[in-house]
Amino acid sequence: MNHAPNTRQRLLHLLSDNAIHSGRELAEALGLSRSAVWKSLQELEKLGLSVHAVRGRGYRMPHPVEMLEPDSLNQHLHPATRERISSLDIHPCLDSTNTYLMQRARNGTGSCGQVCLADSQGSGRGRMGRSWLSPPGANIYLSVLWHFEDHAYLTGLSLAVGVAVARALVASSLTEVNLKWPNDILWQDHKLGGILIEATGTAHGGCQVVIGLGINRYLPPQLAERIDQAWIDLHRIQGRDMPARNVLIARILNEMIPLLVSYPRQGLAAWLDEWKTLHHWKGREVVLLQGERHIRGILQDISDQGLLILRSPDGTLHEYGSGDVRLQRSA
Ligand code: BTN
Repeated sequence: MNHAPNTRQRLLHLLSDNAIHSGRELAEALGLSRSAVWKSLQELEKLGLSVHAVRGRGYRMPHPVEMLEPDSLNQHLHPATRERISSLDIHPCLDSTNTYLMQRARNGTGSCGQVCLADSQGSGRGRMGRSWLSPPGANIYLSVLWHFEDHAYLTGLSLAVGVAVARALVASSLTEVNLKWPNDILWQDHKLGGILIEATGTAHGGCQVVIGLGINRYLPPQLAERIDQAWIDLHRIQGRDMPARNVLIARILNEMIPLLVSYPRQGLAAWLDEWKTLHHWKGREVVLLQGERHIRGILQDISDQGLLILRSPDGTLHEYGSGDVRLQRSA
């Protein structure tokens, strides 16, 4: 068994107050030698978290760290949300919270309403086969497993989830939140979060769906250099006023779980108008990337089924169900 993530988590917890801690104090608190502490500090550095050594005094973490705390999270969940959560699994480190729940969905050990959170992900996954940067200590990596009686209920679900997440961010005093089709969460054209929905069929025709969400609260700059598009995190937007990690997770679940409960009845129709008000790129010249295919057009609208409607250069309208939208000037 690998104990490293646990030691790392305990060290991160000790440093999360952003105060200076001497090497001796950390070693005593963790029950480790000072060289073992030093090794764990190096591990944090490798994950992109800089730990400042303050000469003669010890170490301090210069950026925000907040551990995932089940009690604090629970405290902010609405009773109706709590009732629908069948289990709340919190892990220091997983490959991917989506993979974790998809495996459980496939082998029959998962349950509808199972929520999985990780402090960090070793192989976080984004849409279109991309990876998702997932350092520990600040961001949100959340997945929810849900069961639908019919595959058809999935239509437009990812758009509706985007609205739920935007609501939670607005409730956390974030202004200028927008959505990019199908489900990127933007702030002033910069990517703040993303949603990855995956599904697997069941023997009786229904389906199990995993709704994965990543929100950037704090991305260490040296790691973020690897991102190939304009990005942002809540710390850069709101500074010290950014929402607490556990509170924001609870707010997201308070929006997302009722959405999942009502979705088979209401469908996208209940969310479409709000999605359209958040649709920032309407009327802009865009390129839709579908693998090797690059489709240019003006972003016209979203159909009632949640498809993207583009006006092509010859003036005709076309609907698309997948792809990645970029502004033409930045594609
Ligand atoms: C995107 O490409 O915009 C979607 C990103 C989704 C990332 C989240 S983080 C939690 C969950 N687990 C994963 O591996 N991916 C999703």
